[in-house]
Amino acid sequence: MKSLFHLGAKKRRQPAYDPWDLSAPLLEWADDVPWRVGSAAMGTMIFGSTGSGKSTGSLAAICNAQLRAGFGGLFLTTKLEDRDTYIKYVRDAGRMDDLLIFSPDNWLRYNFIAEERAQSKDGIALVENLTALLMAVTELGERSGSGGSSGGDSERFFRLEATRLARNGLLALVLSRDVITIPDLHKLITSAAVSLEQVTSESWQQGSFCFACLRAADDAPKSESMRADFDLALTYFLNEWPALSARTRSVVQSTLTSSTDLLSRGAARDMLSSPTSNISPTDCYEGAIIIADFPVLLYHDIGQLIQVILKFAWQRAHARRDISVNHRPTFIVADEAQMLLVDADQQFQAISRSTRTAVVYATQSISGMIDAMGGTGAEPKVHALLGNLQTRICHQQSDIRTVQYMQELIGHSRQLMMTGNQSHEADWLAPLMGQTSGGSAGFSETFEHEIHAADLHSLAKGGPPHWMTEALVYEGGRRFLGGKRWLRAGFPQRR
Ligand SMILES: Nc1ncnc2c1ncn2[C@@H]1O[C@H](COP(=O)(O)OP(=O)(O)O)[C@@H](O)[C@H]1O
Ligand SMILES: [Mg+2]
Repeated sequence: MKSLFHLGAKKRRQPAYDPWDLSAPLLEWADDVPWRVGSAAMGTMIFGSTGSGKSTGSLAAICNAQLRAGFGGLFLTTKLEDRDTYIKYVRDAGRMDDLLIFSPDNWLRYNFIAEERAQSKDGIALVENLTALLMAVTELGERSGSGGSSGGDSERFFRLEATRLARNGLLALVLSRDVITIPDLHKLITSAAVSLEQVTSESWQQGSFCFACLRAADDAPKSESMRADFDLALTYFLNEWPALSARTRSVVQSTLTSSTDLLSRGAARDMLSSPTSNISPTDCYEGAIIIADFPVLLYHDIGQLIQVILKFAWQRAHARRDISVNHRPTFIVADEAQMLLVDADQQFQAISRSTRTAVVYATQSISGMIDAMGGTGAEPKVHALLGNLQTRICHQQSDIRTVQYMQELIGHSRQLMMTGNQSHEADWLAPLMGQTSGGSAGFSETFEHEIHAADLHSLAKGGPPHWMTEALVYEGGRRFLGGKRWLRAGFPQRR
């Protein structure tokens, strides 16, 4: 899609060095200790208890630096005040010309299916992309529906079956319809045959939208691999699906239709399935700054759904991006990110550097993330994501899991401990004086965590009178002054 906007950042004069090169400095953690574009593009996670200074400290500093460097990007929102906070950052950076606000009371609309259709290289890729997107959204519904997923075998089974249903349904639609819509997918799924007798009955064949699509798809011209895929879809809808037990079928169907239903109605339909899409992830390559103003705490599951789809679509588009044509870095920022994280985020993080996408998440603690992503079964997912966010910033923290995580991350260091009876000065001095000591005093080596829980407890949280917050900064593989793997940084608060 061609951008509709005149973007101010393009007009600004660029400094002599390339501010978008991976080696270009974005900000300084301390004097002469820069954080560079390349590090930003490998992802950032900010931890801190409520009120520890995440939003007004490190997150504000990072947003400010990225905006001033001319990044395009997407701000996701969770709290009501997020919109105004981000507008203020954009204004302070002199980037108001680049600002786009995606909200119901604004004129921007998106069509994620049309975008995928335009970007996918063929029908098979389109089906796979849309299936992945639907399953990412379905993951959100499963969490809120069951009060946290167990990650057990039965859950995995239903998830796999729902994925097959989505994939086969979408393939039938892609082959039979010019325009694909979520309500059509919903109609196809709910009109599929529910018994082997029904498959052969004339009344079902005449009245079923599913059957009409299968017949049209069968007649449509297709490549050899499309033919092979469609044969599987035919077998699925005419043999496998009707043969499932009614109970299994109902769970699989409702897993998927809970999402298709949400997407077919109200704000989600208007904002994401608009016939006139006038916003695209590619706008950010030209400098657009988009605020997705659907704060989760106001819009609840619809806010989550809309923003997770935007984030997913943005990540997919960025994964296909050719940075030799335009290498302007972009950001995706989410404060209280636990509300907006899905499995797919981890896969994107693995490749984000080559796409120049600086993803910045802020959250309270690892325990909070695990809870939000579905309970104890989600722990490996959380760690897989964290492992792919190279910069980790930890503000004041009392969550034991997060404290231990930071301690393990930073590692152990050699500590010399005085041992033995130190009260007899003569014994301790004896070896130094060339005499043989009869005492037991001396030094011993121990390996201890380099940072202590107290180091994280005692970080400044900001507020009056100093308006400074502190955090420990860790960058994967980087050594700071004195060979240390961490750095204590101060952030003046932005209010
Ligand atoms: N406008 C303000 N007036 C007084 N105190 C503030 C103001 N803004 C932030 N603070 C204080 O700064 C600290 C950090 O706030 P914040 O960055 O919002 O924390 P977090 O995002 O980690 O929850 C808090 O302890 C808060 O009390
Ligand atoms: Mg905050």
